[in-house]
Amino acid sequence: MSSSSALTLAEAIENRRSLHKLSDDVTVANSRIEEIIHHAVLYSPTPFNCQSGRTVLLVKDEHKKFWDLAREVAQATAPPQLFEKVYEPRIKMFRAAYGTGGDFVFVQILFYDDISALEGMEQKWPMLKDAFPKWLDHANGMLQYAVWTMLAAEGLGCNLQHYNPMIDARVSQQLNIPATWSLKAQMVFGKPDGPPMQEKQFDPVESRALTYGA
Ligand SMILES: Cc1cc2nc3c(=O)[nH]c(=O)nc-3n(C[C@H](O)[C@H](O)[C@H](O)COP(=O)(O)O)c2cc1C
Repeated sequence: MSSSSALTLAEAIENRRSLHKLSDDVTVANSRIEEIIHHAVLYSPTPFNCQSGRTVLLVKDEHKKFWDLAREVAQATAPPQLFEKVYEPRIKMFRAAYGTGGDFVFVQILFYDDISALEGMEQKWPMLKDAFPKWLDHANGMLQYAVWTMLAAEGLGCNLQHYNPMIDARVSQQLNIPATWSLKAQMVFGKPDGPPMQEKQFDPVESRALTYGA
């Protein structure tokens, strides 16, 4: 896969941030975004190479329909105060283009696990049965991280959202998602249009990453 970025991997890891202020002025082609996702899906690790991760890329109208649906479900599900204070403004932010007042063209990726991968593994390694669902989660996080870091290296701003499980049934119906796919996260992205919402604080690394035997 060709890279349009001269960043080292360490720099790409450091530069990746949660960016919520995004504009619709994205010059990266959808084909390039697909290439990045396909690369991450192919090469991210999974337990026993079960290849459980799935993605759905939503662009333009499909992204818009997704947030309309999320708003509808949140309004019907959340206590009214929570909806007004938290869900409504956030969903508006993800749905609407920043600063331009125009129609949004943000894009996003839905991350799924195909839980049918569990069956074969559970039969083969029954003693690990309890661990497999957690490991699928770990693997999905790795996939999300690979996509996030590569999109950021491409100059795109991303943020990670979790409107699941509230929206699962409706999204599955709207997008005709296979019954064995379990929604894990949603990643919204666009052109960065401002700094991260919060300054990032770092706890001392020495107490978080230990070395023995050196
Ligand atoms: C597993 C996981 C779940 C997260 N869930 C959300 C979320 O639901 N909404 C959100 O805005 N950010 C979410 N984030 C982003 C974190 O808040 C963010 O990564 C953290 O504050 C560090 O900031 P940074 O991403 O800019 O380095 C999540 C991050 C991780 C790793």
